[in-house]
Amino acid sequence: MRKIILIGGGGHCRSVIDVIEQQGIYEIAGIVDVTSKIGTTVLGYKVIATDKELPLLAKEYKEFCVTIGHTVNRSLRKDIYLLLNGLNVKLPVVKSPHAYVATTASIKTGSVIMHHSIINANARLGESTIANTGCIIEHDVEIGNHCHIGPGSVLNGGCKIEDDCFIGSNSVLLPGTIMQKNSIVAAGSVIRGPVEENSMYAGNPGELKKIKRNG
Ligand SMILES: CC(C)(COP(=O)(O)OP(=O)(O)OC[C@H]1O[C@@H](n2cnc3c(N)ncnc32)[C@H](O)[C@@H]1OP(=O)(O)O)[C@@H](O)C(=O)NCCC(=O)NCCS
Repeated sequence: MRKIILIGGGGHCRSVIDVIEQQGIYEIAGIVDVTSKIGTTVLGYKVIATDKELPLLAKEYKEFCVTIGHTVNRSLRKDIYLLLNGLNVKLPVVKSPHAYVATTASIKTGSVIMHHSIINANARLGESTIANTGCIIEHDVEIGNHCHIGPGSVLNGGCKIEDDCFIGSNSVLLPGTIMQKNSIVAAGSVIRGPVEENSMYAGNPGELKKIKRNG
């Protein structure tokens, strides 16, 4: 089995552990978290180091997966991913055997495809993006880097999601919706028009709630 190190030992990590166990191709060699968590376990896997020790770990291990979650604030997940990229390690796509990915779809490094998600024909996912449990990413959808498509969300055909976006659980984006970078769609929203950058939309019909968020 290939050894893999996970970075971030919270709730998203527990979900990713289940996906990795179902895949059956990796041995989880340890988890990286904050100093106070060293020596504790996450679903039976030991926290072995902090992120300060990543350069050292990169000499010993080849494959890593960032398991820090991303909702309103995605900066820590992104920063750690970029740091690892600079350390010349492999950040594989982690894909549940219970997901469906069309042969014509493409997924870039560091992304995770959780149980029962569907990535349909000609969909394209960027780096370090989360396609969370049961989401449906329809044909021709394009998603940038560092995005999180929440559980049960439906992105209809031809939607374009720019970098650093978060789509809350059970949201629906109508066909061809354009979501500009660094934006949020709140859980359960139905989005019928464009989502402007650095903004948060919510409701049905989805409307602008906030602008200029950080992180
Ligand atoms: C969007 C979200 C992150 C909240 O962000 P926030 O910046 O804390 O926003 P606030 O709670 O201050 O709400 C701002 C406004 O949006 C509204 N709002 C927030 N979430 C909403 C939702 N899901 N549906 C409708 N309206 C919503 C609030 O009522 C408020 O409206 P108002 O300004 O008219 O009073 C949160 O509501 C949400 O939807 N989280 C998604 C959770 C999820 O799916 N997680 C997946 C984990 S795997």
